[in-house]
Amino acid sequence: MKILITGARSNIGFETGLRLAKLNHFVYFTVHHESELKTLEEKLRKKGITKNIKCFKMDITNEEDRKIITNLEIDCLINNAAIGIGGSLLDLPIAKLKENFEVNVFSTIRLTQIYAAHLFATKRPGKIIFMSSIAGLIPISFLGSYSATKASLITLATTLRRELRLITKDIKVKLIEPGIYNTGFNDVMIENKLNLKSTYFKDLENITLKQKKLFRLIGKNNLNSICEKIVEAVLDNSNHLIYRAPFSQVIMTKLYLLLFK
Ligand SMILES: NC(=O)c1ccc[n+]([C@@H]2O[C@H](COP(=O)([O-])OP(=O)(O)OC[C@H]3O[C@@H](n4cnc5c(N)ncnc54)[C@H](OP(=O)(O)O)[C@@H]3O)[C@@H](O)[C@H]2O)c1
Repeated sequence: MKILITGARSNIGFETGLRLAKLNHFVYFTVHHESELKTLEEKLRKKGITKNIKCFKMDITNEEDRKIITNLEIDCLINNAAIGIGGSLLDLPIAKLKENFEVNVFSTIRLTQIYAAHLFATKRPGKIIFMSSIAGLIPISFLGSYSATKASLITLATTLRRELRLITKDIKVKLIEPGIYNTGFNDVMIENKLNLKSTYFKDLENITLKQKKLFRLIGKNNLNSICEKIVEAVLDNSNHLIYRAPFSQVIMTKLYLLLFK
C-alpha cells in the first residue's frame, strides 16, 4: 500500500510510518516545515529505512501543499497533524480557538476532500484515517479548545463514513481515539495556557503543574499500543470505524461513558 501521513516528523506519526515501512508499504512522511526534512531523513536512515519512503513538506493549512496529494497514488491518508491550544474558555481569545479548529478540523477536512475527489476522479479505492482523541469523548478542563476539535472530528468522520456507505464500498473511514501518551504534545498544550493572562484563575501556574503531573502519571511512555492500532486500521478493509489504545485508558473511558453520559 501507499500511505501518506501528515505531521510525521516525530512521535505517533513517525513511529507509525516506521512500522508501515518495515512491513514493506510505501510511506510518504510529510512534515509541517521544510526545515525538518533533513533531520527526518537522517532519523529514518539511522533506523535502516532508505527504500519505499519519501519525505516532503506538507503544511495542511496551505491549499497548494494539500493539492500535492493529487499527484500521488495514495491508498491510505492518515490525518495525524494537529495542534493543541490550552486555556480556560473564559480567557481564550477567539482567534486562538479558530487557529485550533483551522489546523485540526478545517484543514484536515479540506485535505480529505481533495483526497476523496482524487479517488473518485481516478476510480481508485482508498482509506481515510482521522486521529481524534479520548479528549474528544471526555472533555478536559483547560483543554476545551483541543477537546472540541477532536470531538468535531469524531462527528465529522462518523458522518463521512455514513455518507460514503451510500455511494461507494471503495472508500473506508477509520477513527483513531488514542488515550494519553507522553510525546510532549500534551505538555506543550497544558503549558501554553500560561501565555494567557487569566482574569479569573489566580492560581493558573499551580493548576498547570498539577495537570501536567496527572497527565505524566496516566500517560504512556511507550507508543507501541497506539502505533499498532493505527497499523491495524490501515490494513483493515472492513467497515470497522473506531480504534482505541492503550487498553487501561480504553477501560477508563468506557466506564466514564457508562457512568457520566
Ligand atoms: N500524545 C497524546 O497523548 C495524544 C492523545 C490523543 C491524540 N493525539 C493525537 O495524535 C496526533 C499526533 O500527536 P503526537 O502526540 O504524536 O504529537 P506531535 O508529534 O506533536 O504530532 C503533531 C504533528 O502535527 C504537526 N503539525 C502541526 N501543525 C501542522 C500543520 N499546519 N501542517 C502539518 N503538520 C502540522 C506537528 O509538526 P510541528 O511540531 O513541526 O509543528 C507535529 O509533527 C495528533 O493528532 C494528536 O492530537 C495525541
